[in-house]
Amino acid sequence: MTTTPDLTGMEQERLRAHVAEVLTRARSRSTALTDAVDDDDLTRQHSRLMSPLVWDLAHIGNQEELWLVRDVGGRDPVRQDIDELYDAFKHARVDRPALPLLGPAEARGYVNEVRDKVLDVLDHAVLEGRPLVEGAFAFGMIAQHEQQHDETMLATHQLRAGAPVLDAPAPPRGRRLPAAEVLVPAGPFTMGTSTEPWALDNERPAHQVQVDAFVIDVAAVTNADYAAFIDAGGYDDPRWWSVPGWAHRQDTGITAPRFWTRIDGAWWHRQFGVPQPLALHQPVVHVSFHEAAAYAAWAGKRLPTEAEWEKAARHDPATGRSRRYPWGDEDPGPQHANLGQRHLAPAEAGAYPAGASPLGVQQLIGDVWEWTSSDFHPYPGFAPFPYDEYSLVFFGADYKVLRGGSFGTDAVACRGTFRNWDYPIRRQIFAGFRCARDPRAEELG
Ligand SMILES: [Fe+2]
Repeated sequence: MTTTPDLTGMEQERLRAHVAEVLTRARSRSTALTDAVDDDDLTRQHSRLMSPLVWDLAHIGNQEELWLVRDVGGRDPVRQDIDELYDAFKHARVDRPALPLLGPAEARGYVNEVRDKVLDVLDHAVLEGRPLVEGAFAFGMIAQHEQQHDETMLATHQLRAGAPVLDAPAPPRGRRLPAAEVLVPAGPFTMGTSTEPWALDNERPAHQVQVDAFVIDVAAVTNADYAAFIDAGGYDDPRWWSVPGWAHRQDTGITAPRFWTRIDGAWWHRQFGVPQPLALHQPVVHVSFHEAAAYAAWAGKRLPTEAEWEKAARHDPATGRSRRYPWGDEDPGPQHANLGQRHLAPAEAGAYPAGASPLGVQQLIGDVWEWTSSDFHPYPGFAPFPYDEYSLVFFGADYKVLRGGSFGTDAVACRGTFRNWDYPIRRQIFAGFRCARDPRAEELG
């Protein structure tokens, strides 16, 4: 962790107010997602890939209790007897419905009791002096954790059968893109961060990376683009698929992104229980890494590496420094990106010109998580913090890195440096992709 200079009283108060705000925002979202359905829906498993919603809720409270009530606050446990039930490493998602979980009323009472204690801890905690509390890190980590589960719960809602229960205004319409692709010149850039106070261990430390010149798409691949791949027989042509990708395609029999159906020759997709004609200009979502890579090969391109993605998002050629976000250092606002479940769909290509990177790449933040070609590895100088199970146990070739956040991701859990990871076969997450390619000789002039 970076140490910050001693905070003045006023800075401590400002930090406390910020923490209270992000914790409250996370809780409003958890409450909305769990109050939207009845007790039967809360306790049922909607997919073997997901926990019952009531597990997520009490798990959110349990992590908050462990880190903020017990560790930061040094207070007595609230419900030590349930620690094991809500330890994500002890029980696979598929087994969670059979556990003696807290019921909906008990879970709500528990998370409220924990939160009351946490707000009291926040009032009294000294937000410096040891890495866990420096810059209110543990509070930021817990707010991010709750928001990550809120995104997972949103994915559970997307998998849930039955009448629609969520509603939100449509995202902004797209605009004409200034170009289809941009060239990112060769050279070093600073990847990762050593200064972002709430960055997680896998985003650290900042380090220089040399990146060859590459060309990247200004926007993510749209539903119309992806439908063209299907129409061209892309799912039936092993030339476009990696060996494991083709095996997965054969084993599962997939022929389109998840939640797509063809009716009388026209594609429809289901968003949170509402069937609608395929939104042609929205980014494709609910595709696996293997599908993304196959599309890119068919298009004569490839997925960007994680370093390429981050350079396209953060590198400012005018100053040589890396920005916190594509548009600059200011926190995301509604003009920059489709984040925070304000809309329940990704926005069309070109909808957020104010969020463009210095080189003109758009919508890198928000809308859909973007698959990269990179496995999840630690950065040079990585140190596990505050516990091994946050990232360390996931490093390796089993997982592919996703970047940028989705419409379901909150701003607190989304940065130019933020790294997500998942299995290359996963499709229930809000993931799409954009393509990259090597430049042609004449483009390098
Ligand atoms: Fe968790």
